[in-house]
Amino acid sequence: MPHILITGASSGVGEALALHYAAPGTSLSLLGRDGARTAAVAERCRAKGATVDAVTLDVRDAAAMADWVKACDARHPLDLVIANAGVSAGGGGVGETAEQTRHIFSINVEGLFNTVFPAVELMRPRKRGQIALMSSIAGFRGLPSAPAYCASKAAIKVWGEGLRGQLARDGLGVSVICPGFVESGISKRNRFPMPFLMPADRAARIIAQGIGANRGRIAFPWPMAVMAWIMTTLPDGLIGALTARLPHKERLGG
Ligand SMILES: NC(=O)c1ccc[n+]([C@@H]2O[C@H](COP(=O)([O-])OP(=O)(O)OC[C@H]3O[C@@H](n4cnc5c(N)ncnc54)[C@H](OP(=O)(O)O)[C@@H]3O)[C@@H](O)[C@H]2O)c1
Repeated sequence: MPHILITGASSGVGEALALHYAAPGTSLSLLGRDGARTAAVAERCRAKGATVDAVTLDVRDAAAMADWVKACDARHPLDLVIANAGVSAGGGGVGETAEQTRHIFSINVEGLFNTVFPAVELMRPRKRGQIALMSSIAGFRGLPSAPAYCASKAAIKVWGEGLRGQLARDGLGVSVICPGFVESGISKRNRFPMPFLMPADRAARIIAQGIGANRGRIAFPWPMAVMAWIMTTLPDGLIGALTARLPHKERLGG
């Protein structure tokens, strides 16, 4: 029975991934912060025939995360871990505060480590398993609209690229997921035009396809991925001038 663990499964992309994988003969371990929304997603996955264990946990709690990942694996060895939980500062306002910068890193980077390291420790000795890391197309270049969010996603992208080569020696797969705009709790707070915005269920299908093929980088939709790549090749001053007018994120919690 394939066993898939997903963090941030109570909403948006994580919820869509849980529903995508939910099927008879599949075991899902789901994590969210909001108990009612996490339980509701778990129920919908059970209705599709999956065996589901759902918890309410904060990914910043390293000890609790290690215990939870171990307990999931003890029930049935984990095949795939999708470290998806993440936050932005909000959308369309006046930038990221110092407090928000630390908050974003504590969830998007440290929280992801708290998910991945315990899983790798368990998968390595048996030389089987796959890790999928949620980055973003926003991680290709720092943008004035969201420096902390971009930097947190860049950290995961670069870390994942390296980890992929390192863990390949142990027979493990690593995929870095870099979506453009997807309909979700994060994007619904954006107060600016979102080119190529796509529904979460479509994003989940693309992500699952990439994970199934053990692709190193799952960047989509392709026009956004190409634009992001071009940005990385242009002179820094030109990109600075082009991105200076982008709207800034709101000073919201999150
Ligand atoms: N939507 C996009 O356009 C887009 C594009 C690129 C990348 N991403 C990435 O996709 C991932 C999912 O975000 P989303 O867009 O689907 O937004 P979302 O609907 O707001 O979902 C975020 C998920 O992360 C969970 N979460 C946040 N902080 C957490 C914490 N401290 N501990 C445990 N869970 C936590 C949330 O749980 P609760 O709701 O229960 O608090 C929720 O399940 C994020 O990493 C995001 O950066 C999104």
